[in-house]
Amino acid sequence: MIKGFVFDLDGVLTDTAEYHYLAWQELGEKIGISIDRVFNEQLKGISRMDSLDRILAYGNKSMIYSKEEKIRLADEKNEEYKKLITKISSRDLLPGIKEFMADLKQADMKIALASASKNGPDILNQLGIAGLFDTIVDPAALTHGKPDPEIFIKGAKQLGLSPKECIGVEDAEAGIQSINAAGMFSVGVGTQESMKLADVFVSNTTQLDFVAILNKAQKK
Ligand code: BG6
Ligand code: MG
Repeated sequence: MIKGFVFDLDGVLTDTAEYHYLAWQELGEKIGISIDRVFNEQLKGISRMDSLDRILAYGNKSMIYSKEEKIRLADEKNEEYKKLITKISSRDLLPGIKEFMADLKQADMKIALASASKNGPDILNQLGIAGLFDTIVDPAALTHGKPDPEIFIKGAKQLGLSPKECIGVEDAEAGIQSINAAGMFSVGVGTQESMKLADVFVSNTTQLDFVAILNKAQKK
């Protein structure tokens, strides 16, 4: 029986995926690596340092920077990202999320956050929805990032549930792989192509329908 939901944040609850992209793009320009939206799909759900490594590899610059320089570059990206998110408020919840979460609460579902972002707790506060979450997985305490299942397994565990009792919601391919590998029912928000591994996919958050999702999850 489904008793909980484990959510990704960036690109699911609010459109911060776009701000991550803009901040990486700006850093890329400074170091002579040009990235586009197609490449950016690979960065969704991926930790800050792993994202930097992928960008450097893409630009054939992996060997140029020392560990310390890479930390400085990742910090620089994060400072730019934080500037872009200062004005986020409850108005920036993606359409339909407020209603969807209200339906979950109404049905007594437990709710966890499984985001790779270290900015996650601050963003939930800014969005005004921190109080709806029963627990938040600490991304700094993970051994492996998405697509490894660790973050979703921990999300379920922190809710006191098994992965089979939870539904995971994601917008990243790596995230859907993580949910599936955890043995959880997966809901993808995005294009059919990028969400092809999801158990259910919707093209945007207004289409998240609690009853329809629950029915499909219980039939699986
Ligand atoms: C994920 C985003 O949620 O968090 C990635 O999809 C991002 O794009 C990652 O790199 C880490 O975020 P942060 O805020 O810790 O740099
Ligand atoms: Mg995401």
